Amino acid sequence: MNKKAIGIFDSGIGGLTVYRALKEKLPYEKIIYLGDTARVPYGTKSKDTIIKFSLQNAEFLFKKDVKIIVIACNTSSSYALKSLQNSYSIPIVGVIEPGSEAAVNCSNKKVGIIGTYATINSKSYEKAIKEKNKKLKIYSTPCPLFVPLVEEGWIEHEVTEMIAREYLNPLKSEGIDSLVLGCTHYPVLKNVIKRVMGNKVKIIDSASTVSEKVFDILTNLGWLNERNNNKEDEFYVTDSPDRFKKVGEFFLGKKINQVRKINI
Ligand code: DGL
Repeated sequence: MNKKAIGIFDSGIGGLTVYRALKEKLPYEKIIYLGDTARVPYGTKSKDTIIKFSLQNAEFLFKKDVKIIVIACNTSSSYALKSLQNSYSIPIVGVIEPGSEAAVNCSNKKVGIIGTYATINSKSYEKAIKEKNKKLKIYSTPCPLFVPLVEEGWIEHEVTEMIAREYLNPLKSEGIDSLVLGCTHYPVLKNVIKRVMGNKVKIIDSASTVSEKVFDILTNLGWLNERNNNKEDEFYVTDSPDRFKKVGEFFLGKKINQVRKINI
């Protein structure tokens, strides 16, 4: 048993989709969440900047003495996973590997991938999927406006649905059989995305595969908490804690006691 917390970070609120899956799979773990809301979005930034921000986020969590860090952001995972793994001795988990594993398990022929500009340009999913199954055809497209819509809390909104149609109709016309939500903000819009894509397309959200991976790592290390240690989760942001609290509570469907603003 290791009573230290699990640290997770994202550019903003999107990592809460991973937080929720971790809470379901690992109910007795304390989680420390960091959302870099002052600098969101990451998806339009350069590789160097994404690596720099990701290292700063990881350093904050490392100083909080976490036992493992989950990069709950596809953009950071696409560019910064290696740098973080080289910088810290604790386990660092990204979302691309688990996400592509889920995609390969669920897809027959044609996989659609949506993500930020940076994630799509990195081809991280394409490479990871092709390594596992060369036969799958991959169609990808960036959906940059989804991130500010989520940060704004426009989750069930006609504008969101219009934008979703604009982005997703070309993928639908290709006849994809599964769609990877390659950005942790996007599962917040799952209902809208499902409505646009229709029933036949499987929607793949890496959050549950990520939580299984974290579960396996902690189990293998003997670091899993099997009893509640009554420690409250901690939430930190680099800007606008009130907005994070409001949208976060709406998304999680539960109260977040305190969101603290920090400088990193
Ligand atoms: N949630 C993030 C991701 O998974 C980043 C979105 C952004 O900051 O652009 O890619």
